[in-house]
Amino acid sequence: MTALVTTITETLRYRGAIGQWSWVLHRVTGLGVVLFLTLHVIDTSWAVFYPDLYVKAIAVYQTPLFTIGEFVLVACVIYHAFNGIRIIVFDYRPGWWKYQARAALLVLGLSIMVSIPVFVAMFGHVLAFYNDPMRQMLGLVEVIESQLPFAAGIGAAVIAAIIASAAFGAVTGEKTAAGIKRGSRIEKFWWSFMRVSGILIVPLVFGHLAMMHVIQGVFAITEVGHTVVGTTTPNVSGTAVEFVANRWNFLFAGVAVWRLYDFALLAMVVAHGFNGLRYVLTDYTMSSPLLRRAAVYLCVIGASVLLVLGGLALVNTIDSTAIQIASEAAEQLFAQ
Ligand code: HEM
Ligand code: HEM
Repeated sequence: MTALVTTITETLRYRGAIGQWSWVLHRVTGLGVVLFLTLHVIDTSWAVFYPDLYVKAIAVYQTPLFTIGEFVLVACVIYHAFNGIRIIVFDYRPGWWKYQARAALLVLGLSIMVSIPVFVAMFGHVLAFYNDPMRQMLGLVEVIESQLPFAAGIGAAVIAAIIASAAFGAVTGEKTAAGIKRGSRIEKFWWSFMRVSGILIVPLVFGHLAMMHVIQGVFAITEVGHTVVGTTTPNVSGTAVEFVANRWNFLFAGVAVWRLYDFALLAMVVAHGFNGLRYVLTDYTMSSPLLRRAAVYLCVIGASVLLVLGGLALVNTIDSTAIQIASEAAEQLFAQ
């Protein structure tokens, strides 16, 4: 905790150097995307396991608060990707280090340049959606309430990690935190993994965002009769559940391409994101073996939950009963 306070105050005091700011931005954007990913994989699995809850989750995405969040999310992914590529290039070309301040500025400029046309395209979908006079929307209180179970779940995972760490410490008498021995073979593996996965994530995540924000748009997920992006089938019921069902059931040359795509995306972003979270949390818990070990456990718990839940959703089928439940839930959503 003291380390965290020191980092924040020193970063603000140190102000000047662009390298310092790009390090902070890379960290903050990475953490923001991990938080979104946690909510997103859990609620996407509801399309299979709790269709009525998925209908509400997408309705929450379509409210002004989450619309603003989506713009922030897209900006975070764009900046983190460009800056990640800069880090990777400089790691393999240490001789170029003298250009790092200029490169950090270039990354910022490129991120702004790419964000502008993307935001314009996204804004077109936003206007079309909000300009519809018949449009009904969930209220702010309901939106905030819908996020409380996630906050409780994250809190429970933190408590479980601390208890497991305390139990491990008591049983083994271990005074150091396992799994973070700098320079070890496993840490070298993770160092390389962060770079390789970062490169692989670029086409995967930008392809996904282009489909969900630019080509089709978050709002067209629930549009009746709209051909679902990446497929040839329309969304007859106009429910978010049928949207996912059409994508996951779509076959190209006999292969369920979007299931495979989402599986690759899930595996890469969860492993990269939660290992990144481990770097951040262990940086701020250096003085406490209990908390440092708990930080590692928390990342293992988080990554495992998302991989199992997201993986199970991907291998299951979404049948017509699920779409029926979703249609009824959509009708009920604004009935009260
Ligand atoms: C607000 C922006 C986003 C929207 C509206 C969105 C929408 C969706 C939808 C509808 C699905 C269901 C499957 C499909 O149709 O392919 C899905 C799955 C998925 N998305 Fe996104 N997505 C967004 C951003 C992201 C980002 C930034 C990431 C990565 C960091 C991501 C990672 C995933 C993963 C891993 C899956 C598969 C989940 C599973 O296996 O259950 N999404 N997304
Ligand atoms: C879009 C492509 C991406 C690239 C090129 C990329 C690249 C990188 C690189 C090079 C690092 C530094 C690793 C190190 O210090 O050893 C990193 C760290 C990190 N990444 Fe990514 N990444 C990408 C996407 C993502 C996504 C989708 C997430 C979230 C799910 C994420 C979360 C993080 C976090 C939390 C860190 C740790 C930051 C820190 O230590 O300060 N990244 N990324």
